Amino acid sequence: GVRFREPPFTPERILKGLRGEAPATPQSLPAPAAPPPSRNWENPFARRAGIFATIAAVCTAAIGIGAALLPGRAIAPIARPDASVYSAATIARGEQLAALGNCAECHTKIGGAPNAGGRALETPFGTIYATNITPDVVTGIGAWSYPAFERAMRDGLHRDGRQLYPAFPYTHFAKTSDADLQALYAYLMAQPAVRATTPANALAFPFNLRPLLAGWNALFHRTHEFKPDPSRSEAWNRGAYLIESLGHCSGCHSPRNALGAEQRNAYLAGGFAEGWEAPALTSLSHAPIPWSEEELYAYLRTGHSRYHGVAAGPMAPVVRDLKALPDQDIRAMAVYLNSFNDTADTPAPDALAAKLESATQVTVASSAGARLYQGACAVCHEVGGLPLFGTRPSLALNSNVHSTKADNLVQVILHGIADPVSSDLGYMPAFRNSMSDAQVEELVTFLRKQFAPDKPAWTGVRETISRVRSSTH
Ligand code: HEC
Ligand code: HEC
Ligand code: HEC
Repeated sequence: GVRFREPPFTPERILKGLRGEAPATPQSLPAPAAPPPSRNWENPFARRAGIFATIAAVCTAAIGIGAALLPGRAIAPIARPDASVYSAATIARGEQLAALGNCAECHTKIGGAPNAGGRALETPFGTIYATNITPDVVTGIGAWSYPAFERAMRDGLHRDGRQLYPAFPYTHFAKTSDADLQALYAYLMAQPAVRATTPANALAFPFNLRPLLAGWNALFHRTHEFKPDPSRSEAWNRGAYLIESLGHCSGCHSPRNALGAEQRNAYLAGGFAEGWEAPALTSLSHAPIPWSEEELYAYLRTGHSRYHGVAAGPMAPVVRDLKALPDQDIRAMAVYLNSFNDTADTPAPDALAAKLESATQVTVASSAGARLYQGACAVCHEVGGLPLFGTRPSLALNSNVHSTKADNLVQVILHGIADPVSSDLGYMPAFRNSMSDAQVEELVTFLRKQFAPDKPAWTGVRETISRVRSSTH
């Protein structure tokens, strides 16, 4: 907390407050309602109402800073650029970059025209609608010059100078090279213009005040471009660039602080998105078999790793989008990510997999949970079972069964996998209509004990189940 009626407000002071070094005075501000599962923003702390009040207090303080900083000036509108001036190669490059940045994933509403906006992003601060980024001059970005586009991508400012919410990952996009931003602009301008007005955001006070985002940026946004590390390989630097800039992987895979900013000192240490846990991608991973460059490559290229599982939930569209990128870019990402692993004495994965799988074979159904497993899951997931259509991920090796949180396992059981990365991975049925909360709890408790015997039992499974059941994902 920060004493927000006590100027002057400096970033140091607010950071001090965030670390809890000053008493909170939040009572006078309304706390927004409990958050629904959100895209990219959710973190476990945000559920605590007290934190909301603190956020409100800090944001109000940030207005003080915000008002003094970055007075966004308007950049004059232009006539819609003639996309025929761009080469086909530039536009094709831009298309790959748009896929890497998942632009259409956020900027398209269900059943809507690509990039025409209107998709609601739930954040702990309220609902933010992704805007229309087709080249329509009235409702889209058709009247935006390249400098206006670049400024939005690097500084998070609308063409008219207003601050944009960091639910738009400009904090990552800022690291993109000029050449890549130009190709992205060319691609966007070459797409069909769609007239579609974005609905107004529904954010509680004080989050509805855009100027205070200048304060947020002063605290958390670094605008500089990506700088290669000369002591690392070319592939590592390429991977780092793709992942840190347009790829915005840490947007989901890093934890966030109470103001929704990624925690720099916990880079890729695991976060939350859309009611799913985005696991740690570092040596903090709970995967029973350590990740390797080979398996990271397989997972990012195909959506499946024999030793870990599949890319489901919010990770499935990410991998589907990555299909647009060439193999060497995916390889570079794997090289970079693997450098966060502790690869000192990694056992041979084959032998370890065989050991883990044979030690966890279900022989007798001695509990209600085991009977549910045998009736509902074993036909597709039993090791050594009949080869069926699809990937049949091994539960003894699955990251989600070994995590500290039951969320992803519960997601998969209740909602199934209706939209796999590719149809040859197979579909998994949803069990929300065929199992009660009590049954799912029995099953989840059994799966944890059986397939992750070295890990402690999960707590709060029942609450997780009711939360996941009421979410739409
Ligand atoms: C995680 C979701 C998400 C992703 C991914 C995303 N955006 Fe956005 N974007 C948003 C949201 C939300 C806004 C609106 C922010 C606001 O209103 O303050 C926005 C706003 C913008 C704006 C400003 C438009 C305006 O009218 O103010 C531009 C330009 C933009 N995005 C381009 C892109 C591009 C290009 C990509 C892909 C490289 C991309 N976005 C990927 C969520 C996203
Ligand atoms: C929208 C949020 C989101 C974004 C963006 C995202 N991920 Fe993920 N990622 C997830 C979720 C959720 C999972 C868990 C999926 C599952 O278990 O089915 C996951 C799983 C993974 C895993 C497997 C981890 C494990 O131990 O099983 C890897 C590797 C990974 N992501 C890499 C990446 C990379 C690289 C990027 C950027 C190109 C990225 N992710 C971007 C949400 C995201
Ligand atoms: C009809 C076959 C089938 C049944 C029945 C089935 N699954 Fe699956 N399951 C799959 C397939 C196929 C996948 C991989 C889907 C994909 O991503 O393409 C999968 C994936 C999974 C994953 C990995 C998810 C991840 O993100 O890595 C888990 C965990 C899982 N199933 C658990 C279960 C449990 C528990 C049951 C019983 C309640 C069950 N499955 C029943 C076919 C099945």
